[in-house]
Amino acid sequence: MKIDDKYDPGFFRADAARYERMEYRRCGKSGLRLPALSVGLWHNFGHTDDLEKARNILRTSFDHGITHFDLANNYGPPFGAAEENFGRLFRKDWAPYRDELILSTKAGWDMWPGPYGNFGSRKYLIASLDQSLRRMGVDYVDIFYHHRPDPQTPLEETMGALDHIVRQGKALYAGISQYKPEETARAAAILRQMGTPLLIHQPRYSMLDRWVEDGLLDTLEQEGVGAIAFSPLEQGLLTDRYLQGFPEDSRAVRDGRYLRKDRISGERLELVRRLNAIAQKRGQTLAQMAIAWLLKDQRITSVLVGASSPKQMLDNIGALEQLAFEREELDQIEAILK
Ligand SMILES: NC(=O)c1ccc[n+]([C@@H]2O[C@H](COP(=O)([O-])OP(=O)(O)OC[C@H]3O[C@@H](n4cnc5c(N)ncnc54)[C@H](OP(=O)(O)O)[C@@H]3O)[C@@H](O)[C@H]2O)c1
Repeated sequence: MKIDDKYDPGFFRADAARYERMEYRRCGKSGLRLPALSVGLWHNFGHTDDLEKARNILRTSFDHGITHFDLANNYGPPFGAAEENFGRLFRKDWAPYRDELILSTKAGWDMWPGPYGNFGSRKYLIASLDQSLRRMGVDYVDIFYHHRPDPQTPLEETMGALDHIVRQGKALYAGISQYKPEETARAAAILRQMGTPLLIHQPRYSMLDRWVEDGLLDTLEQEGVGAIAFSPLEQGLLTDRYLQGFPEDSRAVRDGRYLRKDRISGERLELVRRLNAIAQKRGQTLAQMAIAWLLKDQRITSVLVGASSPKQMLDNIGALEQLAFEREELDQIEAILK
């Protein structure tokens, strides 16, 4: 990545009409509303990426009413780089808009060496958030997540750390990610008892990964907790990205660790082609249909997409123009997914 601190991108004046185009959904039973579409900084914001493109992805998002940016301590590469780059952008673009933004970060996966830089201890979570705030150059985040369950640490300790962080004012709300239904209900009960409600759960959810339909969404509804679906496009597979081969600048080619080329194979690609044909009949791109398909369930507060360009982000935002499905379309999609 080229970094030139003397380069002046110009003052960012957000589009005055930005709130007219977005739908905002209440997050569980909280007072907080999130945009139906949120943007994640897992990929494309590291030190190997183009900071100007990253800047324009966020500017384009916010101009269309996307008020929620999602980070984690280890987003990069290397770990910490996405928060650091966001901090650079924040100083110039986002500081005047801080109160219009919902910023989240997380800890729970591998971050630094030794026994205190991973999983769910109070030691790790509190130290990690302090590091994140320094990298991002902000006083607080809106949501702090425990990034994944830790089978070794008592849930009371992990939830106690979230409660402490909220009481300190370093995060306004507490969230969890990747927790199964029973763990989620227990986490919510512990937090409730401490006086800090669980705001939100961040599970993986897409047309190709539907585990949340097996109990998690019901639990969240019962507990009054919101849901934000990550990897809704299966990292690019549920788009037209791979229908003509493997583009050089695609995730599968640039960083095959998470989206493996060998998983984008004949049978799966055929399924994507069939979904693409339905999307075309609806007058949408496949990415748009994949997003709309998740938002048809009102229990989904927000769909958390990634994008490697402002153009992709605009395409994704276009999903909001057509969220409704005919019964027949849903049946056809179901038949393909089965
Ligand atoms: N809680 C967790 O454990 C967890 C785990 C993973 C992610 N997340 C969060 O979820 C966010 C989204 O995850 P994700 O990046 O995997 O989501 P995704 O939306 O499923 O995939 C994003 C990728 O899809 C491609 N894409 C996006 N829009 C497109 C369009 N309109 N047309 C064609 N291709 C398009 C781009 O790939 P190319 O790069 O190939 O262009 C982009 O990088 C992350 O940034 C992070 O904030 C959370």
